[in-house]
Amino acid sequence: MAEVVIVDTPEAAGTLVARHIAARVRDEPAFTLGVATGSTPLPVYAALARERAAGLDLSGVTAFALDEYVGLPEDHPESYHSVIRREVTEPLGLDPARVHVPDGDAATIATAGERYEAALDAHGGVDLQLLGIGTDGHVGFNEPGSSLASLTRIKTLTATTRADNARFFDSPDEVPTHCITQGIGTILRAGHLVLLAFGSGKADAIATAVEGPITASVPGSCIQLHRHVTVVVDEAAAAGFERAEYYRWVYEHKPAWQGL
Ligand code: PGA
Repeated sequence: MAEVVIVDTPEAAGTLVARHIAARVRDEPAFTLGVATGSTPLPVYAALARERAAGLDLSGVTAFALDEYVGLPEDHPESYHSVIRREVTEPLGLDPARVHVPDGDAATIATAGERYEAALDAHGGVDLQLLGIGTDGHVGFNEPGSSLASLTRIKTLTATTRADNARFFDSPDEVPTHCITQGIGTILRAGHLVLLAFGSGKADAIATAVEGPITASVPGSCIQLHRHVTVVVDEAAAAGFERAEYYRWVYEHKPAWQGL
């Protein structure tokens, strides 16, 4: 099963995950991190920036982003090219040449998925993939109904996702209708999945992904097909778990050598 770690706050989650990533990077400076956008991973990036301030060198790390909007210019402040540069590449001191984001240019979108898959394959894949979950259960931008075998491709955003993301734009109409996203099959190739969820608004989605049936209707449930998954939630997001007490027990009794 996925390991489920319940912590008090998003900040505590960020510290826990960043410590683990820092240890992996110290061990393997050419580590490959799968990065996500949205609010959820921000505490991890903040904690990684503190690790950097304390001496961690991330300049050898390669990063692959999960997704991008289609049709937003790369220099638009809410394009994921811009968001990743602002929230990840610059504060963590990554080498921009090693940071990859899918090509959301509408003129070249027909081949963008294939090109991103080829880049991932040529690099040798992702060691640790950070993931958030949408209130509709999506991971990356794989909306409900996405094939569990899907690869990087164009998707049409649901009304729920566009409404959830409207807070980043001046008006809801400005949220793009399409995106390019790593597929569920792509995500499942990463060596370790770290799925984060914070706040009561995510309680249903994360409980369904972890404890419900594996189904394309809940793309987050794909984590049940992966052999190394860590789910890190705060107390509010843990409210929907049936087995919360068991997860706490397991984590409290975890052998120290196992790490995350
Ligand atoms: P959020 O989005 O982190 O901004 O809540 C998560 C997601 O849509 O995957």
